[in-house]
Amino acid sequence: MLKPGDLVLLLDPKARRYLVRLKEGGRFGHHVGGVTHEQIIAAGYGGRVRTTKDAWLQVVRPSLEDYVLLMKRGAAVTYPKDAAAIVLMLDLAPGEKVLEAGSGSGALALFLSRAVGPQGLVVSYERRSDFLERARANVAGWGADNIDFYHGDLADADLEPERFDAVALDVMEPWKVFDTSVRSLKTGRQLVLYLPNITQVVQAATEAAGFPLLLRRVVEVGHREWDVRPPVAHPHFRQVGHTAFLVQFTKVRPVGRQPQHEEEGGGETGGG
Ligand SMILES: C[S@@+](CC[C@H](N)C(=O)[O-])C[C@H]1O[C@@H](n2cnc3c(N)ncnc32)[C@H](O)[C@@H]1O
Repeated sequence: MLKPGDLVLLLDPKARRYLVRLKEGGRFGHHVGGVTHEQIIAAGYGGRVRTTKDAWLQVVRPSLEDYVLLMKRGAAVTYPKDAAAIVLMLDLAPGEKVLEAGSGSGALALFLSRAVGPQGLVVSYERRSDFLERARANVAGWGADNIDFYHGDLADADLEPERFDAVALDVMEPWKVFDTSVRSLKTGRQLVLYLPNITQVVQAATEAAGFPLLLRRVVEVGHREWDVRPPVAHPHFRQVGHTAFLVQFTKVRPVGRQPQHEEEGGGETGGG
């Protein structure tokens, strides 16, 4: 049963999405007509509400993807298709501890939080106080309570060695925080970078040579949506374009020079 304080997603006749926080006496206005929050509560998730202009709005439960795409932003968010792949590459499991920087708008933190679950922990660093406040508000709005935010540069953090099961870095210059983050990562586990520019990827791979990091793969996540309303069925004319590269490293034991890349079939190319 819905109640004031709950989040709902309203879909209009063109399937446009609106995130609404229900409140006593609240009203949602739209050019196809308004509805009261009381009507939405009565309809419940999955129900429909009739607007003042006799149109229908569908009421559904917002997914984490809906929430992240519609919540207020400070910094640009890690796109949900990429956040899902980052969780996969980090090989996160319930109960684990993950370190991230920067918090930005809190989007990636929310995906990490869900992956590690209530017994797990996300430790998130952000050096800008305005972004940190935004991230905290977004995370509170979703109701996640397993994320500890810290204000400051991750490079200056005093973290226990080998404390984290995974590290995710969505910062402009991740190599500047390699020292802190790699030390705090368990050997054998994954560090993933999220970088919009290929020049950053090349610099990260170059700088990683000074650390016990093995470059495993560089990935772009494709995502192509189709418009299917029979008899119409074709790819959407507007698509999400380039977002960022995902760069996965594994922390290895620092035994002499490390190869920096594994070729398919187990071969190695030099670079370390
Ligand atoms: C693109 S945003 C991160 C967005 C975030 N992943 C999300 O999904 O909402 C990058 C953030 O990293 C922060 N940042 C950059 N370098 C940092 C560092 N060394 N330590 C802490 N935060 C840092 C920036 O202030 C910015 O807010």
